Amino acid sequence: MNWDRLGKAAHKAAETPIIERFVDPNRAREFAVEAGDLLFDYSKTSMDEAGRSLLLEMFDEAAIPLRRQAMFGGESINETERRAVLHTALRNPGAAPAMVDGQDVMPGVLGTLGRMETFVEGVRDGSIRVTGGKVTDVINIGIGGSDLGPAMAALALAPYHDGPRCHFVSNVDAAHVNDILLPLRPETALVIVASKTFTTIETMTNADTVRKWIGESVGDVDSGSHFVALSSAEDRASAFGIGPERVFGFEDWVGGRYSVWGPIGLSLMIAIGPEAFRSFLSGGHAMDMHFQAAPPLQNMPVMLALTGLWHNQGLGYATRAILPYEQRMSRLPAYLQQLEMESNGKGVSMNGSELPVHSGPVVWGEPGTNGQHAFFQLIHQGTRVVPCEFMIGAAGHEDALAHQHRLLVANCLAQSEALMRGRTLSEATAMLADSFSGEELERQARHRVFPGNRPSTTLAYPSLTPFVLGQILALYEHRVFVEGAMIGINSFDQWGVELGKALARDLEPVVSGEADAGGKDASTAQLVSFVHRHAG
Ligand code: F6P
Repeated sequence: MNWDRLGKAAHKAAETPIIERFVDPNRAREFAVEAGDLLFDYSKTSMDEAGRSLLLEMFDEAAIPLRRQAMFGGESINETERRAVLHTALRNPGAAPAMVDGQDVMPGVLGTLGRMETFVEGVRDGSIRVTGGKVTDVINIGIGGSDLGPAMAALALAPYHDGPRCHFVSNVDAAHVNDILLPLRPETALVIVASKTFTTIETMTNADTVRKWIGESVGDVDSGSHFVALSSAEDRASAFGIGPERVFGFEDWVGGRYSVWGPIGLSLMIAIGPEAFRSFLSGGHAMDMHFQAAPPLQNMPVMLALTGLWHNQGLGYATRAILPYEQRMSRLPAYLQQLEMESNGKGVSMNGSELPVHSGPVVWGEPGTNGQHAFFQLIHQGTRVVPCEFMIGAAGHEDALAHQHRLLVANCLAQSEALMRGRTLSEATAMLADSFSGEELERQARHRVFPGNRPSTTLAYPSLTPFVLGQILALYEHRVFVEGAMIGINSFDQWGVELGKALARDLEPVVSGEADAGGKDASTAQLVSFVHRHAG
């Protein structure tokens, strides 16, 4: 793969101001892709015809369609863990067989989905009861992929939320579980212990705390009706005291950060109901079909990925900002942070050799207009370029407040326009001519210059429905897949999280005072000693 060639092509194209690309009347149409009712516009970037052709050549060279086929075909493409990658099967209700090791996994997937639906109906209509009667509050205990997906989606789909209230506990910080439990009644709470491995220390510690909280109120003997487990490890769930009839399992071919579509989405299903959850799955499935069928240039995940490679590997922009404009999407940047950074934040290729090019970028973001009043300053005038990924719905859910949504849309579009256009020194000078003169005029004007020519993309959707959210999440999953495959890494393992976990296990007795800090570096020993002096 000729990454140098990409770098040269991208730097050359970037010499032309983005706005000048629009002298071509077809620019906007030709540098945009539609998939279903989504529109992805990447015309406000420096990508030109030549650069795009090169990226498409590289896409062919990397044989991405073959790799995609291998993924959907259930081959063990997660080579370091020797696992298939088939979360797409979870959103394939009733459709074609999905094979792993010669076996169709769909009967199992549909069976679990059916069990989840029966359980969820029972919780929602009150026929499944806890000791205090009908479930009023659901507490999902999980972290990473066992938290971010359902927490993000439950918030995004708040207008569809007609089930019991849902709460999410993730951090091992006692403050998190404490503050969530404080206003709740244990007698009417349903606790979901969500952990693929059922070994994650944060989740198991919080689960123990919540089990005690329930037990103290309803008695240990009766607390069983309050618990459900979502896990691949039925034996560990059973050792925790949750029987098989209350375990919703999934296979090792569902990675944690790709798991919201299956049992890990149980809290979301309880919130919005099985029908809306199915619509969420259908949105994801529609994107899967598009990803497999559309030619590269009309393929939204492919073009989103190629735009990402253009900015990061081509132009060296180290970060990308995810800027959903709707407040209900406020957890999406965190969700995509795990999806992208845990997937493509690797330093070696599949064969173990050093990567020939940078790994995936730093992904960060916040809902739009809040960001405008905080970090957009740097995006507009700072010395580093941050490619922005805007997202906006044409309509909101608050019909009576449609004027506010129009303002939201105007702000989103204005930002991408401002980033591209900028403001020249002569424009700034003219603007201030009534207030200043001479040297002071120029000095003041310089502060009001915007370099412009800052790239952004916009993903537009009709409104934030379960179907649309499903489309968006699957779009980003496949973008990560294409970027990872083109860089040559395994996007489906996460060895980089292990070292810190192991050291935390070693340090716990040191922090507790049961072991000394001998053997630790002086900085760590100093911090431990500070904690001992101040912990009380
Ligand atoms: O430590 C990282 C990680 O393994 C993530 O990949 C995963 O989503 C999260 O921890 C939670 O894991 P589990 O569902 O097994 O508790």
